[in-house]
Amino acid sequence: MAEMDNRPIGVFDSGLGGLTAMATLMQRLPGEDICYLGDTGRVPYGVRSRETIIKYTRQDIAFLLGLDVKAVVVACGTVSAVALEQIRGDYNVPIYGVLEPTVEVALAQTKTGKIGIIGTEATINSGAYERLLRAADPDVELTSRACPLFVPLVENGRVHPGDVVIETVVAEYLAPIKAAGVDTLILGCTHYPLLEAVIGRFLGPNVALISSGRAAAERVARDLADEDQLRAQKEGGMHRYFVTDSVAGFEKLASLFLQQDVSGDVERVELE
Ligand code: DGL
Repeated sequence: MAEMDNRPIGVFDSGLGGLTAMATLMQRLPGEDICYLGDTGRVPYGVRSRETIIKYTRQDIAFLLGLDVKAVVVACGTVSAVALEQIRGDYNVPIYGVLEPTVEVALAQTKTGKIGIIGTEATINSGAYERLLRAADPDVELTSRACPLFVPLVENGRVHPGDVVIETVVAEYLAPIKAAGVDTLILGCTHYPLLEAVIGRFLGPNVALISSGRAAAERVARDLADEDQLRAQKEGGMHRYFVTDSVAGFEKLASLFLQQDVSGDVERVELE
C-alpha cells in the first residue's frame, strides 16, 4: 500500500510557462515542497526537432531526479506532445504530462463541440491533441494553429493588453480560430495563459480558455492525494527555482507572473 511521501514534487518547462502549473500546485498543495526547473538558456523548445526535444527532456528529468523528487510534472505542452510517450517508461517515478488532463477539461467544457487548439509548432505538428480529442469524441470539430511568436514574447514580458506588438500577433494568429466560431480554446502551450487577457479580449467572453498548465496541476494534486503520496504537513511547503540562464531576469518575470516575490529562491544550474 502507498504511504505518505515527504520528497518534493519536480516541475519543469523550457522557461516561464510552467509557472502556470506551479501556481496551481502551490495553491492546491500548500504543504508540498516543489522544485521548478526552467530551461531558460534553451527556450524555446517548440521550434526544435523531435530528437533535440527528447534530448533536452531527458536532461531536465535527470536534473529533477537528482533532487530526489517523487513525481515529475512536465509543465510543457511541447515536451508532453512530442517526447513523453517515448520516454515515460524509462523512469521509476510517475511523469505527468499536460495533454490528457487538458483534453478532459476541454471536452467537459464545450457545448458546441467546436474546439480550437493553439500551441507551439512542434505541438501542433505532432497532431497529439487532435488524436486524443477525436479518440474521446469523434464528432468534435477542431481548428488548430501554431503560434510560434507567443513564447518569445511572453519570455520578454510582452503580455499586457494595450501592447501593440502582442495585440497584433494575437489578432493574426487567432483570426482562423475566431472565424471557426469555437466555444472552447485549448491553450496547448503552458506559456499562453499569461496571454489570457489579450486572447480573451480578442475572442470575446463566449470562448472558454483552457489552461493546460492548470489542468495538469489539478490532475497531479488529485492523483497524489488519492495515492496517499502527499506530505503529512499541510502548510509551509518550500519552493525552489532552477534556471539555465540569468537569475535576475527570471526572478523579475516569475515574481510578476506568480504575484509573489521569488528573489533569493532562484539558482542558476548547468544541465548535462
Ligand atoms: N511552455 C512550453 C510549451 O508548453 C513552451 C515551449 C517552447 O519552449 O517553445 O509548449
